[in-house]
Amino acid sequence: MKGIQMVNLVSQYNRFKTSIDSRVSSVFEHGKFVQGPEVKEFENELAKFLGVDYVVTCGNGTDALQIAFMAMNFEPGSEVIIPSFAYAALPEVLLLLNLNPVFVDVNEDTFLIDVEQVKKNIGPKTVAIAPVHLFGQNANMEALYRIAEENNLKLIEDAAQSLGSWYCSENIHGASGCIGDIGISSFFPSKNLGCFGDGGAIFTNDIELAEKARKIANHGQTKKYHHELVGLNSRLDTMQAAILLAKLPHLESFIHGRIEVAKRYQSELSKISSIKLPKRDTNGTHSYHQYTIKLENSTVRDNLAAHLNSKNISSMVYYPLPLHRQKAYSVDADLPVSVNLCNTVLSLPICPELTTVEQIEIINEIKSFFNQ
Ligand SMILES: Cc1ncc(COP(=O)(O)O)c(C=O)c1O
Repeated sequence: MKGIQMVNLVSQYNRFKTSIDSRVSSVFEHGKFVQGPEVKEFENELAKFLGVDYVVTCGNGTDALQIAFMAMNFEPGSEVIIPSFAYAALPEVLLLLNLNPVFVDVNEDTFLIDVEQVKKNIGPKTVAIAPVHLFGQNANMEALYRIAEENNLKLIEDAAQSLGSWYCSENIHGASGCIGDIGISSFFPSKNLGCFGDGGAIFTNDIELAEKARKIANHGQTKKYHHELVGLNSRLDTMQAAILLAKLPHLESFIHGRIEVAKRYQSELSKISSIKLPKRDTNGTHSYHQYTIKLENSTVRDNLAAHLNSKNISSMVYYPLPLHRQKAYSVDADLPVSVNLCNTVLSLPICPELTTVEQIEIINEIKSFFNQ
């Protein structure tokens, strides 16, 4: 028995098979597998959807971060403030570019970067703040924007998990990833808008940054064999752009599907006192890339995961170790919320294709674990 996976990619392909197959077969027919016309078409369509001036696609979300930071051209040794409870791509890219990540804690209810900690950690070498819109919910961009402005810092958004969600506060409205100076997203297959391999993109309203990012992603070339900058080979394959073009018109319905799953979890699991449910920040929408609950301690968390696994239901710990405690990036920082979250969080299956029957099965197994 296959059981219930975190996401059901095959079922999504089957839903859109006709349009995906037709898009992909035209790539086979025209044969422009690198930088074919679908890449530009997808960039234009995504820019329109997000309401941002420039979308520059590239090989994956990690490269998108690297290209964004390379385009910023910060002095080596500069510091960038990032959350410790997040994915590893940010510190990895910063260290590769000889920039220093300054890890700060997150809010224990929303999992998002703690604005007060950002303020406290600004120093003479700080050049940027890079919030991660974790699990699909946007960080407090209103506050971060103000802090960045007051301290002359750049704001670089990691929207790998939040594509298709919107931030809306008193003074700021916009698509996730398109509010700061530059933002990025990932089209990894399980993401809100996933391709069938790796893919990523950079978003900005700044023409100079966009042009620089575009050059960097393509060997720093201005034209073929003329290299103005040291760059990378990081381009979205035409085939992936074709798949994304077939899926983009459905992004809103994908997010809607995720929200519906989240609502059912919310209403059913709120009856179990041992579970803490994820909290919403009220500013804007949540794409529910993950539905992440908190348990009392790591033993309960691990036992619940084992119980679900014994019933063929997947769950995942995003993330088991905070970034400041990872061997590769380890620093001596006291970030108790991030440490505690790593011991207590558990993400449940969520995707637009998760059926009501499957979701009820998951909920019932969680209730049965807690004898309810
Ligand atoms: C928050 C975050 N940032 C960056 C990335 C990197 O994206 P990619 O896997 O496309 O390199 C991911 C991917 O999981 C992510 O979740």
